[in-house]
Amino acid sequence: MKVLSVVISSFLFGTSLFSAPLGLPEVPVPEDNPQTKEKIELGNTLYHDPRFSADGKVSCATCHAQEKAFSDHLSVSKGFTDKTGARMGTRNAPTVINAAYYTSQFWDGRVPSLEEQSKFPPINPVEGGLHSWDDLTDMLKNDSYYVQQFNEVFGVSKEEITIEHFTKAVASFERTVISGNSKFDRYWYGDEEDALNAQEKRGFEIYVGEGRCVSCHTISQTSAIFTDNSFHNLGIGFRALGKDELEVASEYSDILAKEIAKGKDKVAGDELVLEHKRFSELGRYAFSKEGDDMGAFKTPTLRNIAKTGPYMHDGSMSTLEEVVAWYNFGGRMSPTDPVTPFLDGGIRPLGLSTEQMIDLVAFMRALTSPQYEQIKE
Ligand code: HEC
Ligand code: HEC
Repeated sequence: MKVLSVVISSFLFGTSLFSAPLGLPEVPVPEDNPQTKEKIELGNTLYHDPRFSADGKVSCATCHAQEKAFSDHLSVSKGFTDKTGARMGTRNAPTVINAAYYTSQFWDGRVPSLEEQSKFPPINPVEGGLHSWDDLTDMLKNDSYYVQQFNEVFGVSKEEITIEHFTKAVASFERTVISGNSKFDRYWYGDEEDALNAQEKRGFEIYVGEGRCVSCHTISQTSAIFTDNSFHNLGIGFRALGKDELEVASEYSDILAKEIAKGKDKVAGDELVLEHKRFSELGRYAFSKEGDDMGAFKTPTLRNIAKTGPYMHDGSMSTLEEVVAWYNFGGRMSPTDPVTPFLDGGIRPLGLSTEQMIDLVAFMRALTSPQYEQIKE
């Protein structure tokens, strides 16, 4: 474990700790959690340690594996296993690559930071399955390697180790999982005219023109995260609500209130949306309670998109071709399907030709960073 983590982190240090790669801005680092080499290494070890789970087999890397471009290549994530089988969630695991740039985390943006995010998977009933954060910190306190490391990094004694120390170290590691320098970056930000071929250049024209992709998957003057950090209903999976969306929303609110009354205020929302498909489909609404957010999900990045399928919050599309066809029909499988209620105003039929759709997909394939180029699609 130790040796592995050192190898991985030296690989990451080389490319991304101290200067941002071509196409990306400096990584934002919160004042109360500065990056240090030792903390990043500790975070790397914690990220890969499967003991923080009910079966001792599920780590962050199970669902966000470096060799799968920090995702899991499953439609929806698979958590710990017991005699009743493996726990399946409701949502697709987004890549951790460049998550450090997002202004909120999770498909519905329900937490504001990487630190807050990393608290939840170990104790979610369909992911790590531990009963409480105490289960996790007890494991840390009973491991002399971790006791020594937490002391060195945070200056705390064994008794003083908390879940916040765990999350700070993990988040520091994630802030090194940064990648740019794709063919697109070399063309657009590096002035390498030949970095994109003719087809990819045509695809880029469609991306910023007729396809209107850039209105949500944003590109700025000096860098591109490929997300507006905002929420939109694209009609994906919305019908899985099964009945009227407001009925599902009120059922959700009732259960949430009961869970909160039981003292589960900090974790109830995280559990309900990952355990129940229909609550998952409420999207951003489940946390914002704002009408416009019904069925809306966070715009995902498109960097390394060819390597992180299946696609969409529910993993319901397996190819980029399917995704583009969906947009071309204005958020539907076919032009005769009814339009989803609450569909985002930015989603309308595009009228792209087959050639244009192929070019657009070729452009997306040019957003892969060199270190993930070898991964199979
Ligand atoms: C069982 C699989 C699983 C495990 C284990 C897991 N994750 Fe995730 N991760 C997911 C899924 C699924 C989501 C999306 C859930 C949602 O949006 O509601 C997610 C979301 C995220 C996000 C948000 C990314 C974004 O685009 O908003 C980050 C960051 C992340 N996970 C990091 C971690 C870290 C760190 C750990 C370990 C502490 C971890 N994950 C453990 C499956 C997993
Ligand atoms: C109105 C905003 C908006 C526009 C316009 C838009 N997207 Fe998206 N895109 C999103 C959101 C939001 C999601 C996630 C939706 C979900 O899962 O429910 C998404 C998902 C995707 C995904 C899947 C990403 C993943 O990791 O699963 C791809 C690929 C994609 N968009 C490409 C495009 C392309 C190509 C265009 C132009 C034809 C485009 N988008 C236009 C907002 C937008």
